[in-house]
Amino acid sequence: MNNQIQSEISHLLIRWYNENKRDLPWRETNDPYKIWVSEVMLQQTRVTQGLNYYLRFIEKFPSVKLLAQSSEKEVLKMWQGLGYYSRARNMHSAAKTIVSNYNSKIPNTYREIITLKGIGEYTAAAVLSIAFNKPYAVVDGNVYRLLSRLFAIDTPIDSTAGKKQFANLAHDLLNTHNPGLHNQAIMDFGAIQCTPALPLCHSCPFRHLCSANKLNIQLKFPIKQNKTKVRKRYFHYFYIEFEGSIYLNKRKSNDIWKNMYEFPLIETDKKMSLSDLMKTASFNTLFSDAEITFHQKLKTQKHLLTHQHIYVNFYEVEMTKPIANFVDSFLRINTSDINNFPISRLIQKYLESRELLPK
Ligand code: ADE
Repeated sequence: MNNQIQSEISHLLIRWYNENKRDLPWRETNDPYKIWVSEVMLQQTRVTQGLNYYLRFIEKFPSVKLLAQSSEKEVLKMWQGLGYYSRARNMHSAAKTIVSNYNSKIPNTYREIITLKGIGEYTAAAVLSIAFNKPYAVVDGNVYRLLSRLFAIDTPIDSTAGKKQFANLAHDLLNTHNPGLHNQAIMDFGAIQCTPALPLCHSCPFRHLCSANKLNIQLKFPIKQNKTKVRKRYFHYFYIEFEGSIYLNKRKSNDIWKNMYEFPLIETDKKMSLSDLMKTASFNTLFSDAEITFHQKLKTQKHLLTHQHIYVNFYEVEMTKPIANFVDSFLRINTSDINNFPISRLIQKYLESRELLPK
């Protein structure tokens, strides 16, 4: 790219940012730890949603040391409701590495920071540029959108060629004197001005430069080659309250909600009514021949994630004596202690709608 275009774009961008930027708490600090937390939280999460989580998280874990010293359960609890919980587990693990290998200081080189759990190209570039003013360009959804429109690039952003092309372009455009400012400006610009469905082209400082705008084809960009494949899953949860306690299961496998808590669960790969479910081996293993009645108080809930759609039935179980094999398989907790356990939004919403949360 020629220097003149680079400097014009960068200049317009930073001028736009100075007039339109959002006041956000992590913009008032140089603390690499806080910047790291904010960047991890804001991946896949809107700023408006992330803000309160950020404030509560920093209050509870004000430094990388205090984060490393906490339990994963506490960290997940603070993340509860934000989704993509591997972000929290990875951050906790990286915090431990930073304390033991880097004297509790976030490393300030690409070579080192990229080795930390959960830190990929985006987070590395964001932290290095914003906290240490190093010349790494971020490439996130906002950047793909702005650049593909500005230059009418039709290379799919989810192809190897596209990733390379956009990374090079973002790098060429970067204002190397103020990389942190430039990166935040481009992200705010994408979030506020060059939005996915309703870009504000009439008031856009780039409208005289924007190839997509000239042809009125902004909404075509960015181009993706693969539609995400969606896996359908069917969850059947059993809410079992007996003499003031409930049963919980800690999810262990490398799956959604790993290390978080839920009710005893049977998962099937197709839709099943309760009477069909009762004929399955999993059901018989779980309940053997216990004397129980099931009540479904809520219709099937849909939990829609990017790569999976989960259809969820909740059954409330009524029984007269405890089920013997539950003792070994599940955690039995006082119903009033549920708030100490990290649970998915799905479980949370169920408890709320049935007014089962302790007051
Ligand atoms: N999204 C993720 N990180 C951001 C940042 N630093 N500024 C604006 N939007 C963001």
